[in-house]
Amino acid sequence: MSKSRLLAQAGDQQVVLQLDRLNKIFNAETPLENHVLHDISLQVSRGELVALVGTSGSGKSTLLNVMGLLDVSSSGELRIQGHLVQGLTEQQRTQLRSESIGFVFQFHHLISAFSVLDNVLMPLMLRYGKPSAEQTAYAEYLLNEVGLANYMRQPTNRLSGGQQQRVAIARALVTRPALVLADEPTGNLDTQTADEVFSLFERFNVEHQCAIVIVTHDPRLSARCPRTIRLTDGRVVYDGASADLPGLFITP
Ligand SMILES: Nc1ncnc2c1ncn2[C@@H]1O[C@H](COP(=O)(O)OP(=O)(O)O)[C@@H](O)[C@H]1O
Ligand SMILES: [Mg+2]
Repeated sequence: MSKSRLLAQAGDQQVVLQLDRLNKIFNAETPLENHVLHDISLQVSRGELVALVGTSGSGKSTLLNVMGLLDVSSSGELRIQGHLVQGLTEQQRTQLRSESIGFVFQFHHLISAFSVLDNVLMPLMLRYGKPSAEQTAYAEYLLNEVGLANYMRQPTNRLSGGQQQRVAIARALVTRPALVLADEPTGNLDTQTADEVFSLFERFNVEHQCAIVIVTHDPRLSARCPRTIRLTDGRVVYDGASADLPGLFITP
């Protein structure tokens, strides 16, 4: 499936992510059956910055993994930029994932033996082979934007935790994804570094209009996202303005 075909089928480009009554059951029909996500319905549009919150075990990572096509749902419908994921082959899913989605995890999963620049280029190398001059220039631009222009040729293991997370953000953005999914990207960082890393998400959200869904336990950071989705036991119990989130948000 070519990119133009993907986009031609996509319908309303403003809606980047759409879930309709999505369920996830681990180990279905076994004694270990665990129904983790219950009838999740939501939409995320271009340019939105959304906090996904909830206590540990409420299903945040499972939801992010299903949204990001790293895991499959058990029932319900998921659309990425208008594409019904349940109708795609494995190869098409992989293509859609690499075209549309960037990931940032709590632990950055950088390859320590590679340079900072090569780590950022990795998603492009996996997809296209040797990166073009234009792609390399864009990776360098992103590293400059995250304040790491002077570290490009260094191995990543010389960097601090906050610097490594910035490399991971540049890597997530290098394919110019419509959707960025971040699972506790600041969970491993001190408060000031977490603020700085979060500010990068805010900046890229505004400048590139990518939709961002960010899992965070930090109420200061979720308050900086205009919208919050809250999960309790795998159900959406709140989806609206962060400012109107009822009750005290208690960190687990
Ligand atoms: N691969 C898996 N197999 C079985 N159960 C899982 C798996 N991954 C997560 N779970 C279960 O799903 C529930 C939600 O986990 P998770 O999505 O990691 O929550 P959170 O990210 O909100 O802490 C937990 O009960 C967890 O044990
Ligand atoms: Mg989690």
